[in-house]
Amino acid sequence: MVVVTQLLSSEQVRGFRESLGAAPWLDGAATAAGMASDVKHNAQADAGHPIVQELTNALLARLGEDPTFTSAALPHRIFPPCFNRYARGETYGNHVDAAIMRIPATPEVLRSDVSSTVFLSEPDDYEGGELVITTEFGEQSVKLPAGSAVIYPSASLHRVTPVTAGTRYAAITWIQSLVASAELRGTLFRLDQAIQSLVDTGNADRAQLDNLHNVYHNLVRANAQL
Ligand code: NI
Repeated sequence: MVVVTQLLSSEQVRGFRESLGAAPWLDGAATAAGMASDVKHNAQADAGHPIVQELTNALLARLGEDPTFTSAALPHRIFPPCFNRYARGETYGNHVDAAIMRIPATPEVLRSDVSSTVFLSEPDDYEGGELVITTEFGEQSVKLPAGSAVIYPSASLHRVTPVTAGTRYAAITWIQSLVASAELRGTLFRLDQAIQSLVDTGNADRAQLDNLHNVYHNLVRANAQL
């Protein structure tokens, strides 16, 4: 599980919420597959509407630019982000995300390796609405500042607890990673972060850094599935 802080600036996130306020909303259960639709009680912004398409594209662009997101997810294909809204009493019970998803309006499919939730409401704007992810260390409850995102394995069981006050806006997307193994992806992420923190010290030996970069890229090269 990796947190991406300030994927969107507070100004950007305000713009997203304003646009979502003007967007048409549909029943969220209509877009969930199989058993997930029974436990999904929220609303989803109409992905076909121009306002929503604009937000989807803006968020895709931000995700593509973010070094933490890129390093943690190693994206190969990304499902266009969906925007959801939980009003009081709404919730999404325990479920797993579908393994194979068709990218809307294309013949392309993706294998969901990584799921990402971008929080668009401030934690003070609603009560409840935690994203609870089952990990090998037990359940982790996530509620981040607006504009921050969490990345987690799509294979994990997860839920959104009932919103008991206010409204929770979020965006969600799924990524087929160049590296299917969550364990290997996590190790590559830690290696990249370690190299980056050496770079940030400003006094690491250039030849040693080149060596480490070479090792990192060779590992990605050896394990990437295109
Ligand atoms: Ni889910």
